Amino acid sequence: MQNYTIEEIVKALLEGELVALPTETVYGLAANALNPTAVRKIFEVKGRPFIDPLIVHSLDISQVDQLAYLPEVAFKLSEIFWPGPLTIILPKKNIVPEIVTAGLQSVGIRVPKHPIFQQILIETKIPIAAPSANPFGYLSPTEAHHVKKTLGSKIQYIIDGGPCEIGLESTILNLLDPQNPEILRPGPISADDLEYIFGFKPKYTTRSSHSGAQIAPGLLKSHYSPHASLQLFKTGETPNLSELQGLNAIVFIKRPHIINNRIALNTFWLSENGNLNEVSKNLFSLLERLDTQRINTIFIELPEKQGLGIAICNRLERASHKD
Ligand code: TXA
Ligand code: MG
Repeated sequence: MQNYTIEEIVKALLEGELVALPTETVYGLAANALNPTAVRKIFEVKGRPFIDPLIVHSLDISQVDQLAYLPEVAFKLSEIFWPGPLTIILPKKNIVPEIVTAGLQSVGIRVPKHPIFQQILIETKIPIAAPSANPFGYLSPTEAHHVKKTLGSKIQYIIDGGPCEIGLESTILNLLDPQNPEILRPGPISADDLEYIFGFKPKYTTRSSHSGAQIAPGLLKSHYSPHASLQLFKTGETPNLSELQGLNAIVFIKRPHIINNRIALNTFWLSENGNLNEVSKNLFSLLERLDTQRINTIFIELPEKQGLGIAICNRLERASHKD
């Protein structure tokens, strides 16, 4: 991968080029959010349907204020959770092009935490539209070489910022009705975390009752999918290990107690002791690695549906659907 200076990257973005860059969640495919021609390229390169709105990344709340109408609670959320993995859906201002929001009158915005991304926001002085830097529907990239492999022939600029710290996409919170916040996509910031701000836990939902338009990919069953077939199992319900022959693999949340040599060949774990931060950090990269080894079936253990476990189960459930 070629190394570019920040100046070259800034220039490329200002000239309407695409740049794949690291965020603390997953790698993003970035373009100037205020340039519709540049934003169109994101959809083309990803093979993403134009009905699927993009997240806009901003430097700080004062830049967000130029893009969207902010209810009081948005300021509180920004103080606690930004920069960080929380995307907020707000009524958009006219400056945001329709192609970014798929024609919706709302826009999803977050302030990212990764230092390289922050430097780019400071130097370009523009908001940056960026979905995950993967072909539509495939696993989200958490390392630069994942982007290189799937989109490298289509984009010139890929910044290698090392593995993403979190490894799962941001939580998406619909704030169009500030009294009735809804979590549209579970993520690193859980309903329990948000209770501190609202005094109650926002509900998880996959549709917005306010926009009237389709919101993807919340409505798509299949997303974040590896090519391999993914079979989910609950802790204690370990699948029949005789199936673990040839090109099948089993993935545990934490290191299993007993491993005989034969099984050890195809046995993996996402964390030594079940720490869900480690699980989320390693999830997509392990699935990508198994896909590279042309594994046919991956049996994977679901964590408990609590806190970050809710987001991990959400991704696994969608990754396991093929339709
Ligand atoms: O962590 C992340 O959020 C990463 C990094 C790159 O920031 N980005 C990401 O973007 O996951 P993407 O495109 O994979 O997911 C964006 C999703 C859309 O598919 C849609 O579900 C939701 O955000 N979204 C965006 N704008 C929306 C809007 N106005 N109303 C409802 N949902 C919206
Ligand atoms: Mg995505």
